[in-house]
Amino acid sequence: MLDKTQKFNLIINNIMRIAKSASTRNEKLTKICQSLKEHVPYYDWVGFYIADESEKELTLGPFAGEPTEHIKIPFGKGVCGQAVAKKETVVVQDVSSETNYLSCSPMVRSEMVVPIIKNDKVMGELDIDSHTHAPFTDEDKKFLEDVINIVTQLL
Ligand code: SME
Repeated sequence: MLDKTQKFNLIINNIMRIAKSASTRNEKLTKICQSLKEHVPYYDWVGFYIADESEKELTLGPFAGEPTEHIKIPFGKGVCGQAVAKKETVVVQDVSSETNYLSCSPMVRSEMVVPIIKNDKVMGELDIDSHTHAPFTDEDKKFLEDVINIVTQLL
């Protein structure tokens, strides 16, 4: 059995392979979402939102999981909007105690959003929804920030 660190290292290697492949940018982002969703059992919905800084708005990009009604999200609104407004990772271990939250599915118990920042500009973010209560550790945060470092080079 692989421990969490070994598993995360394997996923990082897989994501680096995807990033270097000949696919289009959107195909790569979709495959990265699929890889994260498939290999981490408590990542139930994984998706990118792309930021428009002049409009102060996020638009849903490639994702893996059930379709969501939240296609456009203003900066500051919901957990997704908070992460780009603050320019920092937001972890909500229990969405029922978060007042600034946009629900996608009643199954979701927790959420983590990592912003993508390039040359001080907000490019977008990676959003993870989980059906598990409080599953995210510092190791998930470091892992997803490593994933974002790879993704930033694609944008
Ligand atoms: N829950 C998010 C909305 C996006 S969905 O999770 C895909 C939020 O509060 O911003």
